[in-house]
Amino acid sequence: CEKEDGRPLRQRLLVVANRLPVSAVRRGEDSWSLEISAGGLVSALLGVKEFEARWIGWAGVNVPDEIGQKALTRALAEKRCIPVFLDEEIVHQYYNGYCNNMLWPLFHYLGLPQEDRLATTRSFQSQFAAYKKANQMFADVVNKHYEEGDVVWCHDYHLMFLPKCLKEHNSNMKVGWFLHTPFPSSEIHRTLPSRSELLRSVLAADLVGFHTYDYARHFVSSCTRILELEGTPEGVEDQGRLTRVAAFPIGIDSDRFIRALEAPQVQDHIKDLKERFAGRKVMLGVDRLDMIKGIPQKILAFEKFLEENSLWRDKVVLLQIAVPTRTDVPEYQKLTSQVHEIVGRINGRFGTLTAVPIHHLDRSLDFHALCAVYAVTDVALVTSLRDGMNLVSYEFVACQDSKKGVLILSEFAGAAQSLGAGAILVNPWNITEVADSIRQALTMSCEEREKRHRHNFTHVTTHTAQEWAETFVSELNDTVIEAQLRTRQ
Ligand code: G6P
Repeated sequence: CEKEDGRPLRQRLLVVANRLPVSAVRRGEDSWSLEISAGGLVSALLGVKEFEARWIGWAGVNVPDEIGQKALTRALAEKRCIPVFLDEEIVHQYYNGYCNNMLWPLFHYLGLPQEDRLATTRSFQSQFAAYKKANQMFADVVNKHYEEGDVVWCHDYHLMFLPKCLKEHNSNMKVGWFLHTPFPSSEIHRTLPSRSELLRSVLAADLVGFHTYDYARHFVSSCTRILELEGTPEGVEDQGRLTRVAAFPIGIDSDRFIRALEAPQVQDHIKDLKERFAGRKVMLGVDRLDMIKGIPQKILAFEKFLEENSLWRDKVVLLQIAVPTRTDVPEYQKLTSQVHEIVGRINGRFGTLTAVPIHHLDRSLDFHALCAVYAVTDVALVTSLRDGMNLVSYEFVACQDSKKGVLILSEFAGAAQSLGAGAILVNPWNITEVADSIRQALTMSCEEREKRHRHNFTHVTTHTAQEWAETFVSELNDTVIEAQLRTRQ
C-alpha cells in the first residue's frame, strides 16, 4: 500500500495509556512547556519503524478551562500526543482510588492496607463507576481519532474496561491490551467485586499480552474458573470467538544506555562518583517509592549485613534512589515516613563523623547521572516484593559491560525469568537470605561475575523494547487476519 508520491504508507498505531509520555507544566493562560519522559515504552515505540505511533492519555495535570485545554492539545499535537482531560474528582476516584488503592495492591499480592480495608470496600462502588467512566472517556478520544486500519494498543491495569468500550463502538477495530503488572493467581483475582466485568472487558480485545507465561496462565485460569469459559493453548474461547492470550516480555532500548556511557557528561559524573566513593564498594537501589518495591525490607537486609559483617562497615555504601510517586495516596505517604525512619536509624547506628552507610535520595536522577550511577555500581539490589518485569535490572546490566557488577534480583520480579541465570535470586521477604546474598555478591570471583554478566548482557541487548513492540503489533495484525479467515470459513 503506497502514498501518491510512492512512499510506503505506514500503519498507524494508537497507543492508549493512562499517562502520556510527557510532563506538562503550565507557563501562562495559553502556554505550556512539555518534556518527554523517556521511559521504556516511549523508546520502544519510537524505535518501531513500520508504524506511525500516536499516544492517547492523561497529561497528569488538571486543566479545568477551555483555553488551557486547547493550548495543551495544540502543544501536545507536535509530540504526536492526544490528551484525555480528567477532572479532579475522576482522578481521585479512578486513578488514586480504584487503580492505585485497589487494583495495584491486589495485582501485586499485597492486599488492602488493614485500616483501609473496610473503607475501601465501602467506596468500591463509586470508585468502580469512576473507573468505567474514565475508561469511556479514553474510548471517546480514541473513537474521535481512529481511522480505518489503525491498530489500537491499550496499556495496563488502568484501562481494563477500554477494549470493551472500543469494540462496542466498532467491532472491526484491531484492539490489543497489554498488562505491565503481574496478573495474580485466580484465587486473588476472584476476591475483586468487579472480577467478571473486568475479565469480560479485557476479553473483548483481539490480543491480550503479559510479561510472563505465568501471568498469562493466571489470566486464562481466572477466565476458566470465574467465567467458566474454555481455555485453549491459544487463549480463551467464548461461543466460538477466540481472544488470543500470550506472553511478550518487554525489554529496554539497550543501545541508548550503552551509547550514553561514552558521553562526556556521563564520564564526568563517573569520575566524580569514583572519587567520592573511593575505597568503598557501591551498592545501588533505584525504585519508585512504592510498597511493591520492598525498599524497607531491602534496607533492613542491608542493616543485617552490616550487623553480621563488621569488617565491611566502612567499605561499603548503599545508594538508594527512591523516586516519589502517587503522593496523594495515603499508603504512599506512610511508606515515605517509614523509609526515612529506617534510614535515619541505621545511619545513626553505623555512621561515623565522615561517612554514612546509606545515601538515600527522594528524587529521580537525570538520564546521564543515572547511567553514571549504574556504571560505578558493584552490586545492584532489585528486591521488589512483586514486580511485573522491572527494567531497572535491565538498565543496570546494560551499563555494566566494563565493571561486570552483580545483580541481586527478587524471584518475584518478572525479570527473574529472563535474568535469573545471571543474577543471584532472592526471596525479598527473607532479610537473612538477602543479607547473605550481599556478602556473596561482594566476594564473588571475577570469573564468576564475568560469566553471570555475559549471560544477562546478551539477553538485555538482544531482547529489546523495539523487538517487544514489533512482536506484539505484528501478532495482533496476524490474530485479526486469522479471526477474519475463521469467520469466512
Ligand atoms: C507502573 C505502571 C505504569 C505507571 C508507572 C508509574 O510501572 O505499570 O502504568 O505509569 O508505574 O506510575 P504512575 O501512577 O505515576 O503513572
